[in-house]
Amino acid sequence: MKPETPLVQDAQKLLEQSIIYYQGHPVGTVAARDPDIAPLNYDQCFIRDFVPSALLFLIQGKTEIVRNFLAHTLALQQRDKQMDCYEPGPGLMPASFKVMGKESEQYLIADFGHHAIGRVPPVDSCLWWIILLRAYVKATGDTALAHQPEFQKGVKYILEMCLVPRFEMFPTLLVPDGAFMIDRRMGVYGHPLEIQSLFYAGLRAARELILPDAEGSDYISGINKRLGGFVFHIREYYWLDIKRLNQIHRFKGDEFGAVAVNKFNIYPESIPYWVTEWIPDKGGYLAGNLGPGQLDFRFFTLGNLMSVMGSLASDRQMQAIMDLIEQRWGDLVGRMPMKICFPAVEDIEWKIITGSDPKNPPWSYHNGGSWPVLLWLLVAVAQKTGRTHLAQKAIAIAEKRLQNDEWPEYYDGKNGRLIGREARCYQTWTIAGYLLAKALMEKPDYLLLVNFDEDTEAQACAI
Ligand code: GLC
Repeated sequence: MKPETPLVQDAQKLLEQSIIYYQGHPVGTVAARDPDIAPLNYDQCFIRDFVPSALLFLIQGKTEIVRNFLAHTLALQQRDKQMDCYEPGPGLMPASFKVMGKESEQYLIADFGHHAIGRVPPVDSCLWWIILLRAYVKATGDTALAHQPEFQKGVKYILEMCLVPRFEMFPTLLVPDGAFMIDRRMGVYGHPLEIQSLFYAGLRAARELILPDAEGSDYISGINKRLGGFVFHIREYYWLDIKRLNQIHRFKGDEFGAVAVNKFNIYPESIPYWVTEWIPDKGGYLAGNLGPGQLDFRFFTLGNLMSVMGSLASDRQMQAIMDLIEQRWGDLVGRMPMKICFPAVEDIEWKIITGSDPKNPPWSYHNGGSWPVLLWLLVAVAQKTGRTHLAQKAIAIAEKRLQNDEWPEYYDGKNGRLIGREARCYQTWTIAGYLLAKALMEKPDYLLLVNFDEDTEAQACAI
């Protein structure tokens, strides 16, 4: 093993300082430790923020903290029926939690989004939780934990919540705005790719974890039914490349009936000008969102990268996504890997889409800002698709700045040169994301913690 560089040592020390203890045991990490800004809720452990820390801990053999995290967050899962409509529904996992009280009287409080800015529901939490449980089992071989009745129940509650029939007839999951990492109004309500890619990986992880007894088999067949149509829907209707753009450009509107080509009634006039210039001859990506009369052409990074990790994208699509990242490197990676979405919404569009949100001006924060936490996923997918050179290049860019800039939460500007105006420093997932990227480069076998190969089990149900 290579000796650790001073940069890695520094990051490792900071990560250790961010660990939260509950009744003497490690249970998670705080979101940020910026000494100059009031913590608000950044002193809490966010489920999504803990994922890169957890994966790194698993690689390092520090499995206790991950096990504790999984058990304590499971205990926080909402189980009771709602007493009133302001309470979370059964199955929901919190966005974050915090340790309260002193020593022996410590207890945990959870935020299900009912305290969060904008009261946003953390739909991604329960999906990350299942993905992490699978990673824990893979790393430790401790299947007994996942098979404990409480854990089985927890997974089933999540499935109940996600698979229950609702009003619509799409296989994708319908969610409100800001239901994931982008937890503010950003025009990401409906069927955002970010949630769909996590939903897919979450369902596949659940299928691996559920005991196939009489009750479990019903859940497994429910998952398989959903997955078959789901994969087809995403690969077919979310996919964008120059060939598909040409088809959409020549779509006829208002087609009625079963044989409609333009099933979602996307009007060619809605194709934004930038995309016709931006989409390369070779390469493509999955669109940000799809609904009736709506195709969001923006590139969303987490959704595309998770679609590669989860094999939601086909082999050909995965390679095309990497081609696009390589060819549009300046826009998507620039001076800090990597932009959360591209392009930013501006002017009147910014007013309408964000509700004139001053924290999300063009090329900042969720609106085209650059988030170093995404580095680990970029490195992971680059390795999966045989593009290690891109992983190396991205790490080298991040290494030049992260420590000097005090590990910011996000960067601003078209090329990510400026530290985010309201970014916190010493943001834990920035630190953990960097360490995880380095660890995956050194030990690529650990990709298996988050990787899913092409699914063969649900194929039979494909439309
Ligand atoms: C912000 C981010 C969210 C993150 C939280 C804690 O709200 O948008 O994704 O989980 O900060 O870091």
